[in-house]
Amino acid sequence: MMTDSPLVLVGGDVHTERAVSARWPKARIGGTFRDLSLLEYVASGIRPDIVAVDVSLSPRGETLEAWTVRFKSAYPSSTVTVIDGSSNRVSEDIGEVPGLTTVLGSQTVVIWSPKGGVGKTFLSTNLACAASLVTGGNAVLLDMDLCSGDVAVHLDLLDGPAITDLIPVLPDIRPEGLDKYARRHGPSGLNVICGPRQPELCDLVTPEVVRTVLTLASKRWGLTYVDTPPDMASDVVGECVDAATKIVLVTTQDVASLKQCRSALEIFTKLGIPVSAMAVVVNRASKDSLMPLQKVEEFLGVELAGAVPEDRKAAERSVFEGRPLALISKNEISEAVWSILDHLSPGLGRASSNKKTPRRRGLFW
Ligand SMILES: Nc1ncnc2c1ncn2[C@@H]1O[C@H](COP(=O)(O)OP(=O)(O)OP(=O)(O)O)[C@@H](O)[C@H]1O
Ligand SMILES: [Mg+2]
Repeated sequence: MMTDSPLVLVGGDVHTERAVSARWPKARIGGTFRDLSLLEYVASGIRPDIVAVDVSLSPRGETLEAWTVRFKSAYPSSTVTVIDGSSNRVSEDIGEVPGLTTVLGSQTVVIWSPKGGVGKTFLSTNLACAASLVTGGNAVLLDMDLCSGDVAVHLDLLDGPAITDLIPVLPDIRPEGLDKYARRHGPSGLNVICGPRQPELCDLVTPEVVRTVLTLASKRWGLTYVDTPPDMASDVVGECVDAATKIVLVTTQDVASLKQCRSALEIFTKLGIPVSAMAVVVNRASKDSLMPLQKVEEFLGVELAGAVPEDRKAAERSVFEGRPLALISKNEISEAVWSILDHLSPGLGRASSNKKTPRRRGLFW
């Protein structure tokens, strides 16, 4: 039985949305996505009643027909409908309509480490750009390393608005209003909210401001990535951790970094954060290290979410050019980043498989 007001995820654009509203006048549209990988990812969290996909969309690496069949078998409780948004014509219905609804999900991934210089910014810019690329710009990166953040440097975004510009308008702003305060990274389409232009302004960004910006950003873009300072005691980090659906702890194979990472894991566990909400990534991984990755896992007592290999030349060049390696297909760092993305948001990393198949547990295991 069709509910009166089915929850619908739309694959397409404003025309598809209109066609959906014409067909189901009381439909609650949970989101509209030009990228079917993102739609699929969101659907896995909210189980929509109906998925209405515009006939003109072409999923990555498969036909629309194959996609609908695959989607239907993965989510049998949802109806998949292919719509011709340009003519308001419904061309194909598949399956029954169930009656359940939930709230649209989103993801806030906070990249943090108690140790400085381990690659938080490198990883957060790469992950966020990869997510943006695969979702057609439906991702944001917030630079919450407020006093000494360098996301703008890594992405070569040297002019434009900063988080401090948001402060006066914050009480009245709606999520869409954030667009004006985000810089756009051309190669990936990523939205970026940069830290204060001068470090002395960082105190203006209070924990309350951070909390509000995090909430607005996750409403506006769904996929929110947060770069942080290496400071356990900071209230700003506390706010980010509170908002996180996933905390990515970055470490190297260096013993001091590993010890700090282990203490951080213990503290998070004491704070009641479930292990499933944490993901440990080894950066600058090297086969020559005295701490091979298997030993790292034993030492930390967790399974690694991934390892990004050491490649100084490639890393330096990518920062110099403001073009994260995740946007380049033939590179081991890039493969590791896509694999980590897939670990954090199952399906998203794999969506890039038309250009390559990200290898889980690549060369370093
Ligand atoms: N996998 C890698 N291989 C080689 N060099 C890397 C790798 N990852 C990061 N780097 C380099 O390490 C340096 C530090 O990285 P990054 O700025 O991301 O660290 P961070 O943890 O954000 O530092 P901070 O704590 O100061 O914010 C950068 O110059 C970056 O180019
Ligand atoms: Mg940094």
